[in-house]
Amino acid sequence: MIISASTDYRAGAQSRLPPFLFHYIDGGAYAEHTLERNVSDLGDIALRQRVLNDMSQLDLSTELFGEKLAMPVALAPVGLTGMYARRGEVQAAKAAANKGVPFTLSTVSVCPIEEVAPAIKAQRPMWFQLYVLRDRGFMRNALERAQAAGCSTLVFTVDMPVPGARYRDAHSGMSGPNAKLRQYWQAATHPRWAFDVGLFGRPHDLGNISKYRGAQTRLEDYIGWLGANFDPSISWKDLEWIREFWKGPMVIKGILDPDDARDAVKFGADGIVVSNHGGRQLDGVLSTARALPAIADAVKGEIKILADSGIRNGLDVVRMIALGADTVLLGRAFVYALATAGQAGVENLLDLVDKEMRVAMTLTGAKRVAAITRDSLVQGKSG
Ligand code: FNR
Ligand code: LAC
Repeated sequence: MIISASTDYRAGAQSRLPPFLFHYIDGGAYAEHTLERNVSDLGDIALRQRVLNDMSQLDLSTELFGEKLAMPVALAPVGLTGMYARRGEVQAAKAAANKGVPFTLSTVSVCPIEEVAPAIKAQRPMWFQLYVLRDRGFMRNALERAQAAGCSTLVFTVDMPVPGARYRDAHSGMSGPNAKLRQYWQAATHPRWAFDVGLFGRPHDLGNISKYRGAQTRLEDYIGWLGANFDPSISWKDLEWIREFWKGPMVIKGILDPDDARDAVKFGADGIVVSNHGGRQLDGVLSTARALPAIADAVKGEIKILADSGIRNGLDVVRMIALGADTVLLGRAFVYALATAGQAGVENLLDLVDKEMRVAMTLTGAKRVAAITRDSLVQGKSG
């Protein structure tokens, strides 16, 4: 297949992966309105073209929490990444490290912290994502292990006190009746995935959780474990011990409202991720492209603003930065590339994003990341 744009990888992932995995990645909650609007609202943001400004010297690099980033991009935490490619977390982390951007390991990864962090340690520290879970023993254990492995930044995800209903999962065989049987059948009809990932990738284990439980955690246990473990009772107060415990930067992921962003500042967080979890939680909430400006008005400069959901290419990165983000996270965009072509796919994706960003920066007259502002947008100019 021909890959000429970052968006070409979605089709690659669809042909490679058994449908239960493709739809788990691709799908969102309920009617998927927020999922769609994340992409369409962002794509609708008009960049303001400027010309004849000698744009021969561009600098895409930025700094975040004392780390140098080759561009204002990091890979988002994505659960089950080791099911989309062989030891997928390690491949994605290496790709990110080679391209000079952070990789965030999900709590619910296939490869454990102790496998992924050392694979990139010589180049840069890994970021680690944690959920709010009922089992505080697990949380503490995961934090200790992340700290011991040299992880720098903690991404603390707070928009999953309950899981959103993903109807596609029941239809695709990810969950629902005869799920196991349907997954085996789908694997049998996708032999390339079945051998490369299903067999040699040993993806039938959630490394971080198994290490804690002392027993293998399989996909079916995963869904049950998650459902039983999300904690709807959580509030800012419950996060205080984590703030105390975690020595590095702490980023709160899943902020969509200026009041919550202000609370994150009060709490003493180092950053927030403006996110609706890629439209996978509460369908009907604002797209992040629409939520971000008011949040930036409220807290920009007081806390680092990261943003995700709907970013599919380098132009989208520039749009999000112009709307007020300091850095963005790529979710599905990198996962599709990983599923299609492993580490090389993610490296190529990051190259494409770099190129797309360069064109957008050149033609909006922004020589540095800091020069990408609301003035880079038509609506910013016209108010
Ligand atoms: C996610 N996301 C996510 N977030 C998180 O904090 N921990 C996790 O384990 C996961 N798992 C996960 C799995 C899959 C398959 C997807 C697609 C997403 C959310 C992720 O970090 C990010 O917020 C979204 O992916 C951003 O939206 P886009 O860019 O994918 O549209
Ligand atoms: C998801 C969880 C794992 O979005 O974050 O599927």
